[in-house]
Amino acid sequence: MKTIKFYEKLLNEIDADIEIVIVVNKNFDQRFCDEEKELLQEAGFQGEQDETCLLAEKRKLFVGADSIKSGDIRSAAANAVRALEGKGYKIAKIGSYMSHPTCTATLRAQAEGLLLGGYRFDRYKSKKSDKHLHKVRISLEEYNGYALDIPAAQRAIEKGIVSAEATNFVRDIVNTAPDDCYPETMAQIAQELAGKEAHLNVEVLDTEAMKKEGMNALLAVARASRHEPRLIHLSYVPKEKPVAVVSLVGKGLTYDSGGLSLKPADYMVTMKADKSGGSAVLGILKAVAELHLPVEIHGFVGAVENMIGGDAYKPDDVLKAKNGKTIEVRNTDAEGRLVLADVLCYAQEKVKADYLFDFATLTGACVVGVGQYTSGVMGFAAEPTNRVLYAANTLAGELATKLDFNRFLRKTLKSEIADICNISNTRYGGAITAGMFLGEFIDEEHKEKWAHIDIAGPAFVEHPWGENPHGASGAGVRMMIRLLEKLARGDEHK
Ligand code: BES
Ligand code: ZN
Ligand code: ZN
Repeated sequence: MKTIKFYEKLLNEIDADIEIVIVVNKNFDQRFCDEEKELLQEAGFQGEQDETCLLAEKRKLFVGADSIKSGDIRSAAANAVRALEGKGYKIAKIGSYMSHPTCTATLRAQAEGLLLGGYRFDRYKSKKSDKHLHKVRISLEEYNGYALDIPAAQRAIEKGIVSAEATNFVRDIVNTAPDDCYPETMAQIAQELAGKEAHLNVEVLDTEAMKKEGMNALLAVARASRHEPRLIHLSYVPKEKPVAVVSLVGKGLTYDSGGLSLKPADYMVTMKADKSGGSAVLGILKAVAELHLPVEIHGFVGAVENMIGGDAYKPDDVLKAKNGKTIEVRNTDAEGRLVLADVLCYAQEKVKADYLFDFATLTGACVVGVGQYTSGVMGFAAEPTNRVLYAANTLAGELATKLDFNRFLRKTLKSEIADICNISNTRYGGAITAGMFLGEFIDEEHKEKWAHIDIAGPAFVEHPWGENPHGASGAGVRMMIRLLEKLARGDEHK
């Protein structure tokens, strides 16, 4: 599904092949005639969240939502569109769903859901189906007797479109096979974005440039790959004076084989998605530029491939990171933190930011701990962490939870011969020890400004869930757009 458009017309006056109806809170009395109610009953439709029922003869598709809240409507809209895929309908229409006459949050979520649910990745299909939905038309007619504030409704839908399109852009990058998307490709994508958007600028560092910067940890990880690494710095500087300066750092492992500490076969599949954090950073900058937010954003992506070979880095190596700290390598599969260590140092040296966030598919332990749908958020200070949690769970409809650092786990990273080990000496608390390792590369000035977001679970799930299709979800994108929008409004956060 490619586009959504809104019309200042009654739903009945809009042309379409099919109408989508969201049944909220199993309330069948609203909007339906008796005949429809009977047909739905016959079909066994209960109106459960995300349950769909197609009444082809009525040219209507019904979908259930537990409530009128954003999260439920986003997911219902996505599932409705997904249910229409391959059925041959080209144009669908839908009303506007609102929780309150002046609150357009649900409407934005509805627009997001329609586009997120309509996502398909068919780059590698030799035969492309033409039986998919092309357009959804949204009627801005009143809902529940509420007259819409038309300009506000339009703005909400437009923002929803920007954040969903940025998410789908990231899904495309992450889903791309590792030999079609390698570090240089990531750099090209950033360059294309900068070419299109007036306020985006890009700088790319190659191996030589990174050597000069002393980024030996990142370079060690990259060494055995036939693909050269890249450090991408994509920045957005608004026209007006920025309200805040934010740095975003992303893990861009275009493939993680584990290196010499090779992953078992079953664990290696899907490791093309180890570039999810870096891809999210690119998508966030795309959205920020399109929304013209009055915040200055610097995105830094460490794009690297972790492979094996005669010149591979190895367990027992000692690496010196950009900030001079020495790292004893005990497992080459804990490579993301090595790459991020150097990129975090580079980012902090280049930009003195008000906030510093990093996104990474960093640990399997995070997935074990909190499940595959939720990100783990950590840091030294509550404020940046709480901002992320609020933007994710309350505004964007992404799941995120806090994981606390503690001094006992910090000790498990001690090395006998270097400043720190790249893995801990305990099997437990792996998401936190990885976060604390990164913390060693945060300078005093940024300690209170940093949060680390481990997206290893939600970034790539092999079956559809909520508004997400099979494969890459674009985790982190919507939550960070919301966080930045809130910062741009100058809102305080406890
Ligand atoms: N990219 C992986 C983490 C990962 C696992 C992401 C599963 C998504 C799904 C990371 O580089 C890694 O391999 N981490 C190791 C760390 C360990 C060696 C301390 C892990 O989690 O097993
Ligand atoms: Zn790894
Ligand atoms: Zn990895």
